Amino acid sequence: MKKLKAKILENKKIGPDYFLMDLDSEYIVSHYRPGQFIHVRIEGNGSRPFLRRPFSIHSITGGDSFQILYKAIGSGTKILSHYKKGKNLDILGPLGNGFEVDPEKNSLLVAGGMGVAPLFSLAQCIKKTKSQVLTFSFLGARSKNNVLLESEFRRLGIKVLVCTEDGTCGKKGLVTQLLQEFLEQNPSFKKTSVIFGCGPNLMLKTLIKLAKNLNMDCQVSVEEIFACGVGACLGCAVNTRHGYKLACKDGPVFRGDDIIL
Ligand code: FES
Repeated sequence: MKKLKAKILENKKIGPDYFLMDLDSEYIVSHYRPGQFIHVRIEGNGSRPFLRRPFSIHSITGGDSFQILYKAIGSGTKILSHYKKGKNLDILGPLGNGFEVDPEKNSLLVAGGMGVAPLFSLAQCIKKTKSQVLTFSFLGARSKNNVLLESEFRRLGIKVLVCTEDGTCGKKGLVTQLLQEFLEQNPSFKKTSVIFGCGPNLMLKTLIKLAKNLNMDCQVSVEEIFACGVGACLGCAVNTRHGYKLACKDGPVFRGDDIIL
Protein backbone atom coordinates (compact mmCIF):
# COMPACT_ATOMS: atom_id res chain seq x y z
CA MET A 1 0.00 0.00 0.00
CA LYS A 2 1.25 3.48 -0.89
CA LYS A 3 0.15 7.05 -0.59
CA LEU A 4 -0.05 8.28 -4.17
CA LYS A 5 -1.16 11.00 -6.52
CA ALA A 6 -3.41 9.70 -9.28
CA LYS A 7 -4.40 11.99 -12.14
CA ILE A 8 -8.04 12.03 -13.23
CA LEU A 9 -8.26 11.03 -16.90
CA GLU A 10 -12.03 11.17 -17.12
CA ASN A 11 -15.00 11.56 -14.78
CA LYS A 12 -18.22 10.75 -16.53
CA LYS A 13 -21.82 10.28 -15.54
CA ILE A 14 -23.18 6.89 -16.63
CA GLY A 15 -26.61 6.94 -15.06
CA PRO A 16 -28.72 8.72 -12.47
CA ASP A 17 -26.11 9.67 -9.83
CA TYR A 18 -23.69 6.99 -11.12
CA PHE A 19 -20.20 8.01 -12.21
CA LEU A 20 -17.14 6.29 -13.62
CA MET A 21 -13.81 7.93 -12.92
CA ASP A 22 -10.67 6.96 -14.84
CA LEU A 23 -7.46 7.41 -12.90
CA ASP A 24 -3.84 7.09 -13.90
CA SER A 25 -1.56 5.09 -11.60
CA GLU A 26 1.01 2.60 -12.75
CA TYR A 27 1.48 1.49 -9.11
CA ILE A 28 -2.18 0.60 -8.55
CA VAL A 29 -2.51 -1.17 -11.89
CA SER A 30 0.59 -3.28 -11.31
CA HIS A 31 -0.12 -4.11 -7.64
CA TYR A 32 -3.89 -4.50 -7.29
CA ARG A 33 -5.95 -7.65 -6.79
CA PRO A 34 -9.63 -7.69 -7.67
CA GLY A 35 -11.63 -6.89 -4.56
CA GLN A 36 -9.10 -4.39 -3.21
CA PHE A 37 -9.92 -0.71 -2.84
CA ILE A 38 -8.38 2.75 -2.77
CA HIS A 39 -9.01 5.36 -0.12
CA VAL A 40 -9.50 8.82 -1.61
CA ARG A 41 -9.05 12.17 0.08
CA ILE A 42 -11.82 14.54 -0.91
CA GLU A 43 -11.29 18.22 -0.24
CA GLY A 44 -14.11 20.02 1.53
CA ASN A 45 -15.17 23.47 0.48
CA GLY A 46 -12.71 25.36 2.65
CA SER A 47 -14.07 23.85 5.86
CA ARG A 48 -12.80 20.72 7.57
CA PRO A 49 -11.54 18.00 5.19
CA PHE A 50 -13.72 14.92 4.84
CA LEU A 51 -12.60 11.53 5.96
CA ARG A 52 -11.17 9.55 3.08
CA ARG A 53 -13.73 7.58 1.08
CA PRO A 54 -13.20 3.95 -0.03
CA PHE A 55 -13.78 2.94 -3.65
CA SER A 56 -13.33 -0.51 -5.12
CA ILE A 57 -10.89 -0.85 -7.98
CA HIS A 58 -13.63 -1.38 -10.49
CA SER A 59 -11.94 -1.90 -13.82
CA ILE A 60 -8.55 -1.89 -15.47
CA THR A 61 -8.83 0.01 -18.70
CA GLY A 62 -5.45 -0.47 -20.33
CA GLY A 63 -2.03 1.09 -19.89
CA ASP A 64 -1.72 2.52 -16.39
CA SER A 65 -5.35 3.48 -15.98
CA PHE A 66 -8.07 2.06 -13.81
CA GLN A 67 -11.61 3.05 -12.91
CA ILE A 68 -13.69 3.57 -9.83
CA LEU A 69 -17.47 3.39 -9.99
CA TYR A 70 -19.40 5.53 -7.54
CA LYS A 71 -22.79 6.92 -6.74
CA ALA A 72 -22.88 10.62 -5.93
CA ILE A 73 -25.30 10.55 -3.02
CA GLY A 74 -23.37 11.95 -0.04
CA SER A 75 -21.59 15.27 0.33
CA GLY A 76 -18.15 13.76 -0.38
CA THR A 77 -19.11 11.85 -3.51
CA LYS A 78 -21.07 14.86 -4.79
CA ILE A 79 -17.86 16.93 -4.61
CA LEU A 80 -16.00 14.07 -6.30
CA SER A 81 -18.50 14.10 -9.16
CA HIS A 82 -17.46 17.70 -9.98
CA TYR A 83 -13.74 16.96 -10.17
CA LYS A 84 -12.37 17.55 -13.64
CA LYS A 85 -9.91 15.80 -15.91
CA GLY A 86 -6.28 16.64 -15.03
CA LYS A 87 -6.79 17.01 -11.27
CA ASN A 88 -4.51 14.92 -9.06
CA LEU A 89 -6.25 12.83 -6.41
CA ASP A 90 -4.57 11.96 -3.13
CA ILE A 91 -5.14 8.21 -2.72
CA LEU A 92 -4.00 5.33 -0.54
CA GLY A 93 -3.92 1.91 -2.07
CA PRO A 94 -4.32 -0.76 -3.02
CA LEU A 95 -5.91 -1.68 0.33
CA GLY A 96 -7.57 -4.81 1.70
CA ASN A 97 -7.17 -8.43 0.72
CA GLY A 98 -9.12 -9.14 -2.49
CA PHE A 99 -10.84 -12.20 -3.97
CA GLU A 100 -9.17 -15.55 -4.49
CA VAL A 101 -9.89 -17.13 -7.84
CA ASP A 102 -9.83 -20.89 -8.35
CA PRO A 103 -8.96 -21.36 -12.05
CA GLU A 104 -10.51 -24.85 -11.96
CA LYS A 105 -13.95 -23.69 -10.92
CA ASN A 106 -16.79 -21.79 -12.55
CA SER A 107 -17.45 -18.36 -11.10
CA LEU A 108 -20.88 -17.05 -10.21
CA LEU A 109 -20.65 -13.30 -9.61
CA VAL A 110 -23.63 -11.99 -7.65
CA ALA A 111 -24.03 -8.22 -7.44
CA GLY A 112 -26.64 -6.24 -5.58
CA GLY A 113 -26.76 -2.63 -6.81
CA MET A 114 -23.39 -0.94 -6.44
CA GLY A 115 -21.96 -4.31 -5.39
CA VAL A 116 -21.09 -4.65 -9.03
CA ALA A 117 -18.12 -2.33 -8.48
CA PRO A 118 -15.47 -4.86 -7.33
CA LEU A 119 -16.95 -7.76 -9.29
CA PHE A 120 -16.14 -6.26 -12.67
CA SER A 121 -12.37 -6.26 -12.12
CA LEU A 122 -12.77 -9.79 -10.80
CA ALA A 123 -14.48 -10.75 -14.07
CA GLN A 124 -11.64 -9.12 -16.03
CA CYS A 125 -9.11 -11.07 -13.99
CA ILE A 126 -10.93 -14.40 -14.49
CA LYS A 127 -11.15 -13.77 -18.22
CA LYS A 128 -7.42 -13.01 -18.36
CA THR A 129 -6.57 -16.47 -17.05
CA LYS A 130 -8.05 -17.84 -20.29
CA SER A 131 -9.15 -20.99 -18.47
CA GLN A 132 -12.13 -22.89 -19.81
CA VAL A 133 -14.31 -22.30 -16.78
CA LEU A 134 -17.60 -20.45 -17.11
CA THR A 135 -18.42 -17.13 -15.56
CA PHE A 136 -21.94 -15.93 -14.92
CA SER A 137 -22.87 -12.55 -13.64
CA PHE A 138 -26.12 -12.04 -11.71
CA LEU A 139 -27.02 -8.37 -11.57
CA GLY A 140 -29.72 -7.26 -9.19
CA ALA A 141 -31.04 -3.72 -8.85
CA ARG A 142 -34.04 -1.82 -7.59
CA SER A 143 -35.16 -0.71 -11.03
CA LYS A 144 -34.08 -0.60 -14.70
CA ASN A 145 -32.16 2.68 -14.25
CA ASN A 146 -30.06 1.10 -11.53
CA VAL A 147 -28.89 -1.89 -13.57
CA LEU A 148 -25.23 -1.22 -14.20
CA LEU A 149 -22.70 -2.59 -16.67
CA GLU A 150 -24.82 -5.31 -18.24
CA SER A 151 -23.33 -4.73 -21.70
CA GLU A 152 -19.79 -4.34 -20.33
CA PHE A 153 -20.01 -7.81 -18.72
CA ARG A 154 -21.38 -9.25 -21.96
CA ARG A 155 -18.50 -7.67 -23.90
CA LEU A 156 -16.10 -9.60 -21.67
CA GLY A 157 -17.82 -12.78 -22.82
CA ILE A 158 -19.65 -13.32 -19.57
CA LYS A 159 -23.21 -14.61 -19.41
CA VAL A 160 -25.42 -12.08 -17.65
CA LEU A 161 -28.70 -12.60 -15.82
CA VAL A 162 -30.56 -9.53 -14.62
CA CYS A 163 -33.34 -8.95 -12.14
CA THR A 164 -35.00 -5.89 -10.68
CA GLU A 165 -37.17 -5.51 -7.60
CA ASP A 166 -39.89 -3.74 -9.59
CA GLY A 167 -39.65 -5.99 -12.66
CA THR A 168 -38.75 -3.16 -15.06
CA CYS A 169 -35.70 -5.06 -16.34
CA GLY A 170 -35.01 -8.79 -16.36
CA LYS A 171 -36.80 -11.03 -13.89
CA LYS A 172 -38.79 -9.50 -11.08
CA GLY A 173 -37.28 -10.29 -7.70
CA LEU A 174 -34.08 -10.36 -5.71
CA VAL A 175 -30.70 -11.33 -7.07
CA THR A 176 -30.35 -14.11 -4.50
CA GLN A 177 -33.62 -15.62 -5.83
CA LEU A 178 -32.23 -15.35 -9.35
CA LEU A 179 -29.14 -17.27 -8.31
CA GLN A 180 -31.20 -19.87 -6.45
CA GLU A 181 -33.38 -20.50 -9.51
CA PHE A 182 -30.31 -20.77 -11.71
CA LEU A 183 -28.81 -23.39 -9.40
CA GLU A 184 -32.09 -25.34 -9.27
CA GLN A 185 -32.15 -25.42 -13.07
CA ASN A 186 -28.41 -26.12 -13.40
CA PRO A 187 -27.63 -28.35 -10.41
CA SER A 188 -24.20 -29.38 -11.75
CA PHE A 189 -22.97 -25.85 -10.98
CA LYS A 190 -23.39 -26.47 -7.26
CA LYS A 191 -20.35 -28.74 -7.21
CA THR A 192 -18.26 -26.93 -9.80
CA SER A 193 -18.61 -23.26 -8.88
CA VAL A 194 -17.54 -20.59 -6.46
CA ILE A 195 -19.95 -17.79 -5.58
CA PHE A 196 -18.53 -14.25 -5.35
CA GLY A 197 -20.90 -11.69 -3.87
CA CYS A 198 -21.03 -8.01 -3.13
CA GLY A 199 -23.97 -5.86 -2.17
CA PRO A 200 -26.01 -4.66 0.80
CA ASN A 201 -25.54 -6.57 4.05
CA LEU A 202 -29.01 -8.11 3.95
CA MET A 203 -28.37 -9.52 0.50
CA LEU A 204 -25.00 -10.90 1.59
CA LYS A 205 -26.60 -12.60 4.59
CA THR A 206 -29.09 -14.35 2.31
CA LEU A 207 -26.32 -15.27 -0.11
CA ILE A 208 -24.15 -16.75 2.64
CA LYS A 209 -27.10 -18.81 3.94
CA LEU A 210 -27.88 -20.05 0.43
CA ALA A 211 -24.26 -21.06 -0.19
CA LYS A 212 -24.13 -22.80 3.18
CA ASN A 213 -27.33 -24.75 2.52
CA LEU A 214 -25.97 -25.86 -0.85
CA ASN A 215 -22.52 -26.57 0.52
CA MET A 216 -20.93 -24.19 -1.97
CA ASP A 217 -17.78 -22.08 -1.68
CA CYS A 218 -18.63 -18.43 -1.30
CA GLN A 219 -16.58 -15.27 -0.95
CA VAL A 220 -18.25 -11.97 -0.13
CA SER A 221 -17.00 -8.41 -0.15
CA VAL A 222 -18.65 -6.59 2.71
CA GLU A 223 -19.81 -3.00 2.33
CA GLU A 224 -18.67 -1.04 5.37
CA ILE A 225 -17.93 2.61 6.04
CA PHE A 226 -14.18 2.89 6.42
CA ALA A 227 -12.93 5.77 8.53
CA CYS A 228 -9.18 5.13 8.49
CA GLY A 229 -9.14 2.27 5.95
CA VAL A 230 -5.88 0.85 7.30
CA GLY A 231 -6.81 -0.99 10.49
CA ALA A 232 -6.12 1.86 12.92
CA CYS A 233 -9.53 3.01 14.17
CA LEU A 234 -11.14 -0.44 14.75
CA GLY A 235 -14.38 0.97 13.35
CA CYS A 236 -15.14 -1.75 10.80
CA ALA A 237 -15.19 -4.95 12.86
CA VAL A 238 -16.80 -8.05 11.40
CA ASN A 239 -17.70 -11.00 13.62
CA THR A 240 -16.11 -14.16 12.24
CA ARG A 241 -15.43 -17.72 13.37
CA HIS A 242 -11.87 -16.54 14.05
CA GLY A 243 -12.92 -13.61 16.23
CA TYR A 244 -13.53 -10.00 15.24
CA LYS A 245 -11.76 -9.02 12.02
CA LEU A 246 -11.36 -5.63 10.41
CA ALA A 247 -13.13 -5.27 7.08
CA CYS A 248 -10.64 -2.69 5.78
CA LYS A 249 -7.53 -4.69 6.62
CA ASP A 250 -8.50 -8.38 6.94
CA GLY A 251 -11.26 -7.96 4.33
CA PRO A 252 -13.22 -6.56 2.65
CA VAL A 253 -13.43 -10.08 1.20
CA PHE A 254 -14.34 -12.88 3.61
CA ARG A 255 -15.22 -16.50 3.12
CA GLY A 256 -18.97 -16.73 3.57
CA ASP A 257 -18.72 -19.60 6.04
CA ASP A 258 -16.33 -17.57 8.21
CA ILE A 259 -18.80 -14.78 8.85
CA ILE A 260 -21.08 -15.13 11.88
CA LEU A 261 -24.48 -13.83 10.86
FE1 FES B 1 -10.41 1.98 10.59
FE2 FES B 1 -11.14 -0.35 9.46
S1 FES B 1 -11.77 1.61 8.93
S2 FES B 1 -9.97 -0.05 11.25
